Amino acid sequence: MIDFKEEIAKQISEKCEGLQREEVKRAIEIPTDSKMGDYAFPCFKLAKVFRKSPQLIAEDIAEKLSDDDIFSKVEQVNAYVNMFINFERIAEETIGSVIKSGDKYGESNIGNNKTIIVEFSSPNIAKPFHIGHIRSTVIGNSIYKLYEKIGYKVVRINHLGDYGTQFGKLIVAYRRWGSEDELIKEPIKSLLGWYTKFHEEAEKNPELNDEARKAFANLEHGSLEEKRLWEIFRKYSLEEFERVYKLLGIKFDSYAGESFYTDKMPQIIEELKDKGLLIKSQGAEIVDLEEYDLGACMIEKSDGTSLYATRDIAAAIYRKNHYDFDKCIYVVASQQNLHFKQWKKVLELMGYEWQKDCIHVPFGLVMLEDGAMSTREGRVVFLEDVLNQAISKTKEIIDEKNPDAPNVEEISKQVGVGAVVFNELSNNRIKDYTFSWDHVLNFEGETGPYVQYTYARASSVIRNASEDDMDKVKNCNIECKYINSDSAKNLIKLIYRIPEVIIDSAYKDEPSILTRHTIDVAQAFNKFYHDEHILVDDEYERCAKLALVETSRIAIANCLKLIGIEAPERM
Ligand code: ARG
Repeated sequence: MIDFKEEIAKQISEKCEGLQREEVKRAIEIPTDSKMGDYAFPCFKLAKVFRKSPQLIAEDIAEKLSDDDIFSKVEQVNAYVNMFINFERIAEETIGSVIKSGDKYGESNIGNNKTIIVEFSSPNIAKPFHIGHIRSTVIGNSIYKLYEKIGYKVVRINHLGDYGTQFGKLIVAYRRWGSEDELIKEPIKSLLGWYTKFHEEAEKNPELNDEARKAFANLEHGSLEEKRLWEIFRKYSLEEFERVYKLLGIKFDSYAGESFYTDKMPQIIEELKDKGLLIKSQGAEIVDLEEYDLGACMIEKSDGTSLYATRDIAAAIYRKNHYDFDKCIYVVASQQNLHFKQWKKVLELMGYEWQKDCIHVPFGLVMLEDGAMSTREGRVVFLEDVLNQAISKTKEIIDEKNPDAPNVEEISKQVGVGAVVFNELSNNRIKDYTFSWDHVLNFEGETGPYVQYTYARASSVIRNASEDDMDKVKNCNIECKYINSDSAKNLIKLIYRIPEVIIDSAYKDEPSILTRHTIDVAQAFNKFYHDEHILVDDEYERCAKLALVETSRIAIANCLKLIGIEAPERM
């Protein structure tokens, strides 16, 4: 497909001496008001170079471009060159390219097969998988899909929180109050109950804390008894998490969590010592980061056990050696900003300049209407409950509106889960937000179900078309001059831009850019569908319009897939 921006940059740089193609390309803007053209080139900065007023420069460039047939109009307005692309060219390019490439539309190889790690989800074993975790889980999954689409080799890692002093507490609690039967029946609820009980009891009897520290130290130093318990906690918790991943259709390439680095930490500690970075502070080993305003990064506790940061340092080094990543992306809450700055600084001080390629992609907090979530106080909304409620609400709606619909179970799952995921990805990730049942279960307006419904509507138009017509559409044997209404034009231009939106979303690690664009495409399609009669008598007009419906259908399905949502054919 022609990249018009690229093409314009080429023309301008060839026709105007002294202007570099790349520079021109970077300067080209897409005007927010389409009356100002499809593309605009501002000339302010050129005044110095050409010793002329920006207006005169713009006039000169406009003049030079005007005889090219990719443009229908080129005009100078103040210091801008406003360019209108010959619409038929955009339509032919877009429809041809979408229909030919199908689900590959928007793919590129700008990643050159370089490796990117996306670490996401990473819940803590024995703790509820709650609504707060959905953010890392679905943002990370979409970022993985976006990078894969543009030609990177992407490794998905779930850095499970399966290690640390809390496991000492769990072991002690389990020994005193737990049983394997209960653990199997309701793993997370039981583990959480024992953990809470531990804290209550430890208030009265602080010796429990010493016992817990000892249990964790034993675990870390390889004691079989503690290891066996830790293994069953991990196994049963993971089974519960897997249920949620399955609902969301999410997979990982590696579940190497914190515990995976146990045997890799001693070397790191040696290395830190050799490089003179470790100092003793109240019995613990720390790296002093005061001079960078980052406090102290604790590496080893006084009882010789490791910490969260130690495991992150070990993980980064292991991943660099093992995967030789180009970038390692961490989709982790913004509450951990300081933690990421600290361990990255430690890596820098160790001399690993590649630490700059470890990128923390933060996101805002999820609050509940009655305050912050608190596991200890039992204020928590389980992610699995949210997904299941969304599914049953969808089922109710279908049963009411369309009682004979086939595959109700399957469609309710696709739409219910789609609603939750889409909702999560429609806002800029850094914003905090308050979870509300009403909001997630509202399917009106700019929601996942709305986009899915648009897809199903387009699919139904295509199902009703004749085979002959569809043959012409599939071979792009159509004439674009029949689709030139304002609503058709707007729709085509939005679909044309999808590939650049994908790249932009990937490089900004911001799936919401694509989500918003997908809503725009769906709205534009619905306007076209509403304004135009599609199955008209005239064969040429009918096939051109059907081609646009098919193009929209494919485009929407591709976007939904990148967001991590299914596209049901019927709803
Ligand atoms: N398990 C952690 C939590 O739930 C998130 C892990 C983030 N990743 C990391 N490499 N530190 O808070």
